[in-house]
Amino acid sequence: MRKLRIAFLARSFSPQTRSYIPLVIRALEELGAVVDIINPAEGVTDLSNVRVEHDLYVLKQQSDLPFSLAGALHAQGAAIVNPYPVSLALRDKIVMSRILQAAGVPTPATYVTSHPDELAPLLEAGPLIVKPYQGTGGHGIRIIRSAAELADVPASKDPVLAQRYHPPQGPDRKMCSIGGRIFGVKKVFPRRTEAEKQGEPFSPTPELCEIARRCGQAFGIDLYGVDIIESDGTPYVVDMNSIPGFKSVPDAPLRLAKYFHAAAERAARGQPLFESAVPTEAVSTEVVR
Ligand SMILES: Nc1ncnc2c1ncn2[C@@H]1O[C@H](COP(=O)(O)OP(=O)(O)O)[C@@H](O)[C@H]1O
Ligand SMILES: [Mg+2]
Repeated sequence: MRKLRIAFLARSFSPQTRSYIPLVIRALEELGAVVDIINPAEGVTDLSNVRVEHDLYVLKQQSDLPFSLAGALHAQGAAIVNPYPVSLALRDKIVMSRILQAAGVPTPATYVTSHPDELAPLLEAGPLIVKPYQGTGGHGIRIIRSAAELADVPASKDPVLAQRYHPPQGPDRKMCSIGGRIFGVKKVFPRRTEAEKQGEPFSPTPELCEIARRCGQAFGIDLYGVDIIESDGTPYVVDMNSIPGFKSVPDAPLRLAKYFHAAAERAARGQPLFESAVPTEAVSTEVVR
């Protein structure tokens, strides 16, 4: 059989990088795949050369240019993990939150506005947390308790997402799925030290596993991360990511390499990208595949 070709839409990695992607690539090569990194941030890309030349593309980089190229490849029928429409939905907290809500996932009440000062009446029921609608890594997150704090939210042409703030009991429960297998790690927020960034793996309760699975089903995917907080004994999903860090997962590079290799094999055979059963009533299954 010919060798599988897999491309990562990602940045370049220095030899000192702490990213797991180079380890995944090495493991894929050991499995016999040919792997390329496509980093459009370097040099000039002639769009007429953007065509499907790989069995599978991995959209790891969430910045604009790799994302747009993924869209251009998707339009030409490329197999992408995660599929372009899903990655797009997960990159936008407005779309993501509504899809999770509609799937019955427990999420905090969520609002969106172009004028943060108009959120003031919502403060009567308690504090809010505002987030950039396309934010990552905790950047731009603020807890808002008063109209004065609202007035301090920097003006922006972008919409602002506001959620009911549920004071977390303990650290975030960050859950991730690789091919439907669920892993959990506890991490405080915000994280400063290396140990805090690493977090502490834990065995998630069946309830947390079920919530995490429902998030995946809502988008028809089985490779993702979700951030869950627990407040007053109730879990809330506050965030979902397409391809998170997977730092705490044992043997993550090998697991991911096997996952991508199997996905590329299926794509090469013209089969669906995802192996795990995703219920047909999943909100976006028809749209995203
Ligand atoms: N509604 C909320 N109530 C309480 N804490 C929250 C809420 N939303 C987010 N957080 C906290 O803020 C952190 C960052 O928010 P998140 O939505 O995950 O943004 P990012 O995309 O930047 O990771 C979460 O990991 C969690 O600790
Ligand atoms: Mg998060």
